[in-house]
Amino acid sequence: MRLTPYRFSLRVAPLLIAALSGAHIAAASCAAPSADGTPQWRPALHYTPQRNWMNDPNGLVYDNGSYHLFYQYNPLGNDWGNMSWGHATSTDLVHWREQPVAIHANANEEIFSGSIVADARNTSGLGAPGNTPLVALYTSVYKEGSGHAPGTQAQSLAYSLDHGATWRPYAHNPVLTLDPESKQFRDPKVSWYAPGGYWLMTTVVADAHVVKLYRSGDLIHWTFLSDFTLPGIPHEGALWEMPDLVPLALDGDPRRIKWVMIVNVNPWSIAGGSGSMYFVGDFDGRTFTPDRVAPAGSDPAQFRWVDHGADFYAAGTFSGAPGARPVVIAWMSNWDYAAKAPTTPWRGAMTLPRELALKTIDGEPRLVIAPTAAFDAWADRGRPATHLADLTVTSTLTELPVATRGAVQRITLWLAPRSAVRAGLVVRRSADGAIGTKIVYDTVTWTLTLDRSQSGEANFSDAFSKQHIVNLPLEHGRLKLEIVVDRGSVEVFANGGRAALTDLIFPPRDADRVAVFSEHGSATFDGLTVTQLAGSDDDPACASRQAAGNSCCLPDRQHGDGRL
Ligand code: FRU
Repeated sequence: MRLTPYRFSLRVAPLLIAALSGAHIAAASCAAPSADGTPQWRPALHYTPQRNWMNDPNGLVYDNGSYHLFYQYNPLGNDWGNMSWGHATSTDLVHWREQPVAIHANANEEIFSGSIVADARNTSGLGAPGNTPLVALYTSVYKEGSGHAPGTQAQSLAYSLDHGATWRPYAHNPVLTLDPESKQFRDPKVSWYAPGGYWLMTTVVADAHVVKLYRSGDLIHWTFLSDFTLPGIPHEGALWEMPDLVPLALDGDPRRIKWVMIVNVNPWSIAGGSGSMYFVGDFDGRTFTPDRVAPAGSDPAQFRWVDHGADFYAAGTFSGAPGARPVVIAWMSNWDYAAKAPTTPWRGAMTLPRELALKTIDGEPRLVIAPTAAFDAWADRGRPATHLADLTVTSTLTELPVATRGAVQRITLWLAPRSAVRAGLVVRRSADGAIGTKIVYDTVTWTLTLDRSQSGEANFSDAFSKQHIVNLPLEHGRLKLEIVVDRGSVEVFANGGRAALTDLIFPPRDADRVAVFSEHGSATFDGLTVTQLAGSDDDPACASRQAAGNSCCLPDRQHGDGRL
């Protein structure tokens, strides 16, 4: 969030207080179906709530066969406020189902970001025999009359004995507060630290650029371990938010565990505004020590970023997910302009869930990030695809055949720029060519750019930045690209996830063409496959479901395959 009086004023409608007083935990029924004001931008592949404002992913946990995605949610409107935890579930990270709001703002507090773990050993004592509690640690932001100074932030606990459907507050909240209390102490992320046999919490003092680490045997009593910060913070005025400390096997070797500290920073991102930076290092059970820190005074380019686009923030990993690789998901927006994003009746989407790995690249451990194997398998399963034999384009732009047109698609290819100075693709392109989002490789600067300067609606905010760039050498003269296009976004994964760029776009609905181009020379596009991931029409599945009054809580449109 930004340090603006608006976002910290925590003014709550009296009605909400009356309705939710004491009702910390709710199992509200779903809202009635609502007509979309901007269906052309409602994603098919990315999670959005049916209506209202959403920001950070919270409480990411796999339990009893389901992935849970809780999130910062305003149950009362399409702007940030009344912060509560919305909830959605999935069994495959592709199809999401919206659930009732899980934890509501109430008379005493708003519910800011946090995490959930399955307490299988019942260390908290909050479970019952044979019933593993899900335990949420979240930030309480206290209101006038709560017994804390208004705006105080402290960490609280809630638990669920029915696999996340309903939540009860712990009787003695908060479980962790600073002394003196702080208005910037938030975003607890909890994990099990197996070597030590205890729970580990990372949290931040946002305006001090400090990640604070704590340990606990029972998720209730927390002991301070250490602080992680940087010498000579280069981004005074920015906030550190949503930390996550993740162990990863370097090059897949379980004997070489490195720890990755993700710190979301706002503003000061590589793409402007908010973004997710990371540090690779070691963790001895008490202190995180990064291998390398950029010298004081460095600019964002000297830091490492999980994603180089403008719309990847508050990234966090799922706790307890099956599979060798951690799964990360982020809020697909940016505090620079999130409040002005022109969608209604919802505002805010999640990125695709992605798998993380740590690979030695240029002698250094680096994160690689790519869509989950489940997503690729789903996209490969019988979807209409157009395969184009090797294309060579010389100093021109070539529109691809009609069958490649679409607003929800995955494009995979090898791009070899050869003699061209620049080469790439245009997606969501209009018939007259005036609109389109470009993915461009520049052979002079060795950079990949996602350019949304002509992507459609952009006037809603001056801060809606235009081009996002990452340094990326070619591998054997070419670049492997996976591009996921949705109605309101483009995600680019290059060279097997060595670079990722995620941007929101707001194109007209009929801008559905794909083109390839080269400038000042010849480029080849090998093995180009365009896979359609939803009908190119205007959501018949959703429309008919809503007409049947059946869209509570999530229309099948969210299921991404356009089928009823
Ligand atoms: C990050 C953030 C968190 C906070 C939440 C409030 O985007 O500012 O630090 O807990 O959003 O909605």
